[in-house]
Amino acid sequence: MPYTMRALQIDAPGGPEGFILRRVSVPVPAAGEALIKVAYVGMNPIDAMARAGKINFLPITWPFTPGLEKTGIVESVGPGVDASLVGQRVIARSRFGGYAEFALEPAANLLPLDDRIDLKTGCVYRGASFTAWHALYKAGRLQPGETVLVHSAAGAIGVMAVQIAKDAGCTVIALCGGQAKMDYAKSFGADHVFDYRTADWADNVKAATAGCGCDVIIDGNGGPNAEKNVELTAPLGRIVYIGATAGSYPAPVAVPTLIFKNISVVGMNLAPIEEPPGSAADRAIIAAVATGRWRVPMSETVDLEAAPDLHARLEDRQVMGRAVIRVASDLDAAR
Ligand SMILES: NC(=O)c1ccc[n+]([C@@H]2O[C@H](COP(=O)([O-])OP(=O)(O)OC[C@H]3O[C@@H](n4cnc5c(N)ncnc54)[C@H](OP(=O)(O)O)[C@@H]3O)[C@@H](O)[C@H]2O)c1
Repeated sequence: MPYTMRALQIDAPGGPEGFILRRVSVPVPAAGEALIKVAYVGMNPIDAMARAGKINFLPITWPFTPGLEKTGIVESVGPGVDASLVGQRVIARSRFGGYAEFALEPAANLLPLDDRIDLKTGCVYRGASFTAWHALYKAGRLQPGETVLVHSAAGAIGVMAVQIAKDAGCTVIALCGGQAKMDYAKSFGADHVFDYRTADWADNVKAATAGCGCDVIIDGNGGPNAEKNVELTAPLGRIVYIGATAGSYPAPVAVPTLIFKNISVVGMNLAPIEEPPGSAADRAIIAAVATGRWRVPMSETVDLEAAPDLHARLEDRQVMGRAVIRVASDLDAAR
């Protein structure tokens, strides 16, 4: 067990140019904690937002080591933690810190990584598929055969939403910025794909539904495009907001409009409503991923040194699906 480790840190909120790859002490797990040898971390937008100082709902300390959704092997455990966890393949996604060779996580928050899923896929599938599934089914109350509109359908959650809705026999309309992302969303089964950088994208969505509108809209962007959601919703349709990547939320919808149009506007925050490990939904989602029925959109893999460039490209909207950061390549043998 080494005393120091490589960690990619930033000393104060700012751009990716502030990252420094340095050697720091390997942390020691306190009571209730486990020390994870980190294999892979997903390039999640929340890591970029946290680095920029735009997150206030998760604990962040400076110097800051990003890396929320990660996989690895339990190296050691603190007092009060079941020692049989050591050596287990796990998903750790309740604390930042994955841009380092070792990271601490409350042992109670660790998820076992299913034997059929490799470490790289493990740092992507959980957040993307679970967020999409809960947004569609729990918040969106999706029914087979409905029409679903997915904003940013080439993003990680967008791609999973496209596939889950198609699996339910729905018609899926995908919105993306640019041809490459349109092709990417189409390759995961979207029926109609429109570029919302064009002026007529909303008219195209309406035409694709023969003027009826969409039953479920999944929107993780907000921003100006979200202002079109109400007019694109079918009677009894549900608009589900899961985030605001574009930087702002849409104006609240007036109650008379909700009544007149027979629509619902809902928010979805995965953590408090997530189906527990071992539940029917949990097992079904894992099986869909493990058997390849839902393909996990891993677009590229980079080493820790290249993570600053990846942050810059993510913020420049050049990344599709989920990019993955490889931290300890010697764990590949552990799958
Ligand atoms: N509610 C929850 O429980 C929950 C859980 C996890 C994540 N989320 C949220 O879900 C959303 C999607 O997450 P994700 O992991 O799928 O993200 P992602 O893979 O990084 O994709 C995000 C997409 O956002 C689009 N985008 C729109 N405006 C942008 C901007 N100003 N800058 C950069 N990208 C922009 C880009 O697509 P285009 O260029 O095609 O627009 C990009 O492909 C995020 O808002 C995230 O915070 C919510």
